[in-house]
Amino acid sequence: MFESIALAPSDPILGLNDAFAKDANPEKINLGVGVFQDASGTTPILACVKEAERRLVAGETSKGYLAISGSPQYGRQVAKLVFGADHPAVAEGRVATAHTPGGTGGLRVAADFIKHNFPVAKIWMSEPTWPNHPTVSRAAGVETATYPYFDAATNGLAFDKLLAAMREIPQGDVLLLHGCCHNPTGVDPTAEQWSAIADVVDQRGLLPLVDFAYQGFGTSIVEDAAGLRALLDTGVELLVVSSFSKNFGLYNERVGALSLVARSAAAAAAVLSQVKVCIRANYSNPPSHGAAIVATILADAALTAQWQQELAAMRDRINAMRKLFVETLAAKGIDRDFSFISQQRGMFSFSGLTREQVERLKSDYAIYAVGSGRINVAGMTESNMDRLCAAIAAVLR
Ligand code: LMR
Repeated sequence: MFESIALAPSDPILGLNDAFAKDANPEKINLGVGVFQDASGTTPILACVKEAERRLVAGETSKGYLAISGSPQYGRQVAKLVFGADHPAVAEGRVATAHTPGGTGGLRVAADFIKHNFPVAKIWMSEPTWPNHPTVSRAAGVETATYPYFDAATNGLAFDKLLAAMREIPQGDVLLLHGCCHNPTGVDPTAEQWSAIADVVDQRGLLPLVDFAYQGFGTSIVEDAAGLRALLDTGVELLVVSSFSKNFGLYNERVGALSLVARSAAAAAAVLSQVKVCIRANYSNPPSHGAAIVATILADAALTAQWQQELAAMRDRINAMRKLFVETLAAKGIDRDFSFISQQRGMFSFSGLTREQVERLKSDYAIYAVGSGRINVAGMTESNMDRLCAAIAAVLR
């Protein structure tokens, strides 16, 4: 039976890591997968994570299964982080959180929940979006559709088109939004634009599914949740998927969460029970270690303060690289205006490079970026910047 199986194409993002690892060029540069790198080009373990792990190893007494939705302490900590400890939805018990293996695991559980409970609902996603969004949704049997998002002429948000398209989405469909640091464009709605989006969601009766993989990479943990709070201010129900890969640097621990906000505590409990049915049929219950790290840090004021500082340092480094990138490109005599890159937020920018230019960067200069032209700014360092910008100047010529 296996002889008839065709080779699958490599993943457009994670596949780049394999190609990068095989590249023998000592000057290779990885701007592909969304992983933070420090000034020396390594992906560090945060000091607060190391300390939490020391405590966990010393205090752990059992390797028994977690509950289907994970540890309740973790769920409570995540809800406070995402919505704010004082948010009425949290205080009124209308939030329920399930621990999931990473943000991708959370998205899959959300898609399974949608398929089981709203079988005709479609998930509407921005054009462009993270390529795994449609893949995960379709794997769960949910149909997808797109709404306009990016305006290539201004390198900004195509807001009027976005709003007009959202007004046409049928009642009961799901609207996938990026909570902050839009992947791949780095372009987020302003506070006023979020309010307008929230009003349309409310008027049309849509269910928002907020992918919140980069909380803290934009401005801060609290400010990055402004869009989410704008949605909640209208009283809508919603789903939020968190990832702690980026903001805690816990990529390989696969730790994330699916949170839901209902109109009553009873509805929240019922939805969580259905989410648990989906989890049980998928991976049964989540792995413990990554969530234990996050819960340990968030339960301890000193460790939380240390984490906030380490997160700010990651954010500041990315923003410094955005600025240096724009300056270095200009110094290379490139006449195209790249200043938009310093206004974008999070790890990614949509460089505007074509698929062919990205391919030439890889084949001629061992510089790896996603085919769409998305570049991971966190892969830039002071030492690789000159070579990077010289290569971009060459492929643009
Ligand atoms: C990315 O977009 O590069 C990250 O979210 C990693 C991934 O899983 O694609």
